[in-house]
Amino acid sequence: MTDASPNTEKTWLDAIRRDWDTRARENARAYINWPDVPNEENAFFASGKTDYDHYVTPFLEKMNFDPREKTALEIGCGIGRIARWMSQDFAQYIGVDVSPEMIRKASSYNLPRAQFQAVSGGDLAGIPSESVDFVWSFAVFQHVPDKRAIFNYFREAARVLRSGGIFRLHMKGLWTLPLGRLMLEAGFPDRGPHQKTPRFKIPFVRLRYLDTWQGRSIGPDEAVQHCESTGLEVLDTAGEWTPMMWIGGRKK
Ligand SMILES: C[S@@+](CC[C@H](N)C(=O)[O-])C[C@H]1O[C@@H](n2cnc3c(N)ncnc32)[C@H](O)[C@@H]1O
Repeated sequence: MTDASPNTEKTWLDAIRRDWDTRARENARAYINWPDVPNEENAFFASGKTDYDHYVTPFLEKMNFDPREKTALEIGCGIGRIARWMSQDFAQYIGVDVSPEMIRKASSYNLPRAQFQAVSGGDLAGIPSESVDFVWSFAVFQHVPDKRAIFNYFREAARVLRSGGIFRLHMKGLWTLPLGRLMLEAGFPDRGPHQKTPRFKIPFVRLRYLDTWQGRSIGPDEAVQHCESTGLEVLDTAGEWTPMMWIGGRKK
């Protein structure tokens, strides 16, 4: 994979699309899934069910949200690891992704009530305003190297949600010091539902090179401020200062 040399948002988005298309062609499951899950189709989709049960269902219940009759939108759907489960609970599911190759593979499963659509990587053009009841994204913003694209997705989530609609967005919520294309990151580990998280969470410090795999971290305050500036009300946060930070709430 060639390295991106981005100067502008447009070149970042071009690099993101090119690199994720390459990953989708090389071995989509390996680039999408948790490292410890076997790279085999049944295990891949089963991990989507585990994540859905862990990160989505309890949130819907907490928000008193009944998904029947409702439309869900997933930003960065990949090849439909979560789509398969979300589309069973919602009346309609829309998955969008920057990579047309991911979208082609996701569509090939012909999931009932699901549709897939390629997007620019920084907006939801093509999704009508106030047409969606739940916006969700998982394991996507952590890879996005340009914060403008992430914050624009917040604005777009606010645009496409109906009033009273809810959202849950995952991002890397670490403390970070940008050093050009390098970044120093610090925080606490969170290994998700697939691996045992140690009882005592020992903080880590690491150096990362910014590209289309290692994206920007968003601090908890920054995430809440940007969300609320779009008209979204943040009602639920989790995993602050970990790679598994969640911001959730409702459109007023
Ligand atoms: C690690 S995979 C996760 C896929 C899916 N969310 C899941 O959990 O199975 C990351 C996905 O995000 C997509 N992606 C990366 N940057 C994106 C962007 N700026 N906009 C939309 N999708 C993006 C990639 O093409 C890829 O399909």
